[in-house]
Amino acid sequence: MNIRTGLTLAAAFAAGLAAAATVDERIEALIAKMTLAEKLGQLRQPSLHDDDGDRPLREAAAGQLGSCIWHAVNPKLRNAVQRNAVEKSRLGIPVMFCMDVIHGEFVTFPTTPGLAGSFEPELLERAQAAAAKEAAAHGIDVTFAPMCDNAIDSRWGRVIETCGEDPYLSALCVAAQVRGFQGEDPSAPDRIAACLKHYCGYGASVGGRDYNDAEISLWQLRNQHLPQFEAGVKAGALMVMSSFNTFDGVPAAVNRFLLTDVLRDEWGYKYSVVSDYRGIFETIAWGYSRDLPDAAAKALNAGNDIDMHGEVFTRGAEAAIQAGTLKLATVNEAVRRVLRTKFALGLFERPYVDETALARVRAEAPATKKVALECAEKSIVMVKNDGVLPFGERPLKVALIGPFGIDPREYIGIWYSNFELAHATSLADALRRELPAGSELKVAEGCSTGCREWTIENDGTATRHAAALAAKDPSLIAAALPLVDEAEVVVMAIGEGWGWTGENSSRCTIGLTGAQQQLFDAVVQRAQGKRIVSVVFSGRPLAIPEVWAKSAAVFYAWQPGCEGGTAVARLLTGKASPSARLTMSVPESVGVLPVNYNHPICGRPTNGSYREYPRAGAAANRAWGTVNAKYPFGFGLTYTTFAYSQPELVHKANGGWAVKATVANTGKRTGVETAQLYVRQVACAEGVRPIRELRGFKRLALQPGEKAEVVFELNDEVLGYVDRQGRHRCDEGAYKLWIAADSSAGSEVELDYRR
Ligand code: NOJ
Repeated sequence: MNIRTGLTLAAAFAAGLAAAATVDERIEALIAKMTLAEKLGQLRQPSLHDDDGDRPLREAAAGQLGSCIWHAVNPKLRNAVQRNAVEKSRLGIPVMFCMDVIHGEFVTFPTTPGLAGSFEPELLERAQAAAAKEAAAHGIDVTFAPMCDNAIDSRWGRVIETCGEDPYLSALCVAAQVRGFQGEDPSAPDRIAACLKHYCGYGASVGGRDYNDAEISLWQLRNQHLPQFEAGVKAGALMVMSSFNTFDGVPAAVNRFLLTDVLRDEWGYKYSVVSDYRGIFETIAWGYSRDLPDAAAKALNAGNDIDMHGEVFTRGAEAAIQAGTLKLATVNEAVRRVLRTKFALGLFERPYVDETALARVRAEAPATKKVALECAEKSIVMVKNDGVLPFGERPLKVALIGPFGIDPREYIGIWYSNFELAHATSLADALRRELPAGSELKVAEGCSTGCREWTIENDGTATRHAAALAAKDPSLIAAALPLVDEAEVVVMAIGEGWGWTGENSSRCTIGLTGAQQQLFDAVVQRAQGKRIVSVVFSGRPLAIPEVWAKSAAVFYAWQPGCEGGTAVARLLTGKASPSARLTMSVPESVGVLPVNYNHPICGRPTNGSYREYPRAGAAANRAWGTVNAKYPFGFGLTYTTFAYSQPELVHKANGGWAVKATVANTGKRTGVETAQLYVRQVACAEGVRPIRELRGFKRLALQPGEKAEVVFELNDEVLGYVDRQGRHRCDEGAYKLWIAADSSAGSEVELDYRR
């Protein structure tokens, strides 16, 4: 068998397949020959590593390895396992190798709240296409991405894996990522399948506590949580992952309404559903399934086909069949869908990875890093600037203080499966390169981020290591302060250590981690009015009032990937221009969460605020859209200024409607402005709708003095919503519309919409 030339004729006949048979016929022919054990083998997904000995080889040869979480970068071993499945197992069904390729594989891109903040879905498509190429080169077939969850509460550690709080922008970014991973033809050697996760409602975990119950109304589910998944299904995703949370009291992994009624019956999804890690097994802990046979029956009856790591089907399905709670036909249907994903991936035709591809793709890293740099520059949000930025061309004395200045590991974030740190540049190194000739840069760590080592190891030894690091903080702070005296500008590289974010990393304080607040306060005191530019690296919107108030300028850098240091340096100096927008509203304080902009207006919109943040007068009106957000969704500054005209309605000759406004660059520099269309339905027949919803945007690159007219078509799709039955609807009647720079800005125009 030659690499990537597909099944030999003999193997095809061994599987009982005629060359001309359709995919459906081939699937049925296989199912007809499979034993129950072989069928359940297709429905299991263990984790496999380099050092698992001959276990993967044995399981593959026995037809017991339908798919796996593949933790190795080892194309040779991957092919050996595959060869056992294809050439030694009874029916020759290939294994599907799956992994989390979330924001890059070897070269890392920014995390998705940043990428989505580019308001340029095509950029996410390019980034994920590059990630797919690297992953495919060592034999990954499926990535557990894109994450489609709605980020509502920044106490939840996994907001960093989302595209933010807005379903419209997220849906566009999800579809773009599916296109990036899968391309036109997911079976091509440089593409991988996308798996939409976590279906559904995980982002609404109560209190932001991971793995928690989610209380979501059907109305909210339809309009806030499902649109991203529907967009991903429409874009052709070949896998969906069920989530850990409950919906309507039933764990999602066994929730027939979600997995069958909506996903399959309403949307026509034909491919496989995988549970999240032990998600089916955990329905027993939830107190919903009695035992393994019950959990197996509930999951398969609901429409969850593959059991990730739980071995529930292999241990419980046979007993469930005997007990009559599970039908063989249901098992067959699950197997059918798994095989359909494998056929769509071309695994039957091209089961092997070209073992020379990895070296070739690694050699392309410089080109991939260029995409990573573009992504990072377009994902870092400038939320404040009193004029100190950009630094410009004059030599400058800069003190770079803070743990994020020297450790590029911090820019990579929580999904680090196969990333290569050698691609990353620290901000300190990047500034050395990018500051104007004659500049002086002094660098101090200042303190640790708090618990890096603890989160790597997550055991007692590591905790002690973190404590040892923390013990050094006072002396590190003391050592940093003299740098302030000599500098003209202090750059603080601070934020939230990467180990504090991601899965199982909910937080209740969402401030700077470790001793960084003490460091910041000490630097502010020492600076005595000298200007501080803060670069905040973080896995979530943080509540850090002193940083907002006492910095002359602030970049919100999220976890910007391996080129994050270079991107920040180029943005600081003005070699690149900030254009990114916030995809999650940043709260005033933790007590105001959730603070997403797209909440209903409520019956007393000017009351009901928190006492610490009263609303008054005009500011109150502006704040309606933001509920105590310090910086709202869609917000982000540039190095120039833009003015918006009052939006105007256009009634077109064909009877259709549009809305338009003029955007002018009123500043002195070229800049990219993202003009955003927001909609509010004044009275909806089915239920209350958000105070504002994003329904369009346009990125405009304008020279100083230049103007552009932005026009948005208005139709049922732009103005509409989804009713409780899943129908896309739009009512005639009154709407308010804004064309504005963010979700709380601009003035409205009213539309009486008639078709
Ligand atoms: C658990 C996480 O919730 C999910 O996002 C991930 O894809 C799987 N583990 C596999 O790593």
